[in-house]
Amino acid sequence: MNLILLGAPGAGKGTQATKIADRYGLVHISTGDIFRANIKNGTKIGLLAKSYIDKGELVPDEVTCDIVRDRLTWDDVKNSNGYLLDGFPRNLFQAGELDKFAKIDGVVNINIDFSLLMDRLCGRRVCKECGESYHVSTLNGATTCSRCGGELYQRKDDNPETVKSRLDVYTAQTQPLIDYYTKKGIILNFTGTEAPAEVLFEEVKTVLDKLAK
Ligand code: AP5
Ligand code: MG
Repeated sequence: MNLILLGAPGAGKGTQATKIADRYGLVHISTGDIFRANIKNGTKIGLLAKSYIDKGELVPDEVTCDIVRDRLTWDDVKNSNGYLLDGFPRNLFQAGELDKFAKIDGVVNINIDFSLLMDRLCGRRVCKECGESYHVSTLNGATTCSRCGGELYQRKDDNPETVKSRLDVYTAQTQPLIDYYTKKGIILNFTGTEAPAEVLFEEVKTVLDKLAK
């Protein structure tokens, strides 16, 4: 089963992705995580990506599509039940390219009220080691991850100005994908709310269990 996760910045793509990948034995491929790893390692791609990510803009399509095309040929993908694309595609061009090298079974689309997102993102802290996300309001001053003890950090693009730009980019470029995949008949719509992520995952599970059969 090959899936796409669609949703605005902070909608909860990464949070749901871990749960979905675990349950169905899928490889979780997040283009944002790939770029951040490249930035951390100081690669050429990282250097290029940083200049776009810091402004909340999209990394150029050719670079992003090449990365995903290549990633789907790795052995872990071949030896799994499929993959879950988190944050790709992000515009109609990328979706058209993906159609050339992949067969997608379902698009999990998390619709969410934008008013929730600024606080969620600006208050987010992420574990450097395992990638787990937290919100400052529930950390009680803790600076390490309760799962693995790793140090928590704030993503550089989680500041009010960049978040605004990311939301604008989502509206202009990514939102049209909802129509694109609705017309293909593979969209699976969910509503992200203030409820805990586990509540949303219960709904996602009910739908994906049927698709996986
Ligand atoms: P990317 O890393 O994909 O970031 P994003 O799309 O902006 O989304 P986030 O990762 O910020 O949010 P999320 O939806 O994963 O939410 P999360 O689960 O963490 O991309 C970053 C940048 O890379 C882009 O801006 C672009 O520059 C570049 N890029 C990436 N892909 C690209 C592409 N294809 N083409 C070009 N450029 C690309 O949750 C957010 C917070 O909410 C967390 O604190 C979490 O704990 C909390 N939370 C989650 N669910 C719930 C819930 N149900 N209730 C309460 N809190 C919740
Ligand atoms: Mg994410």
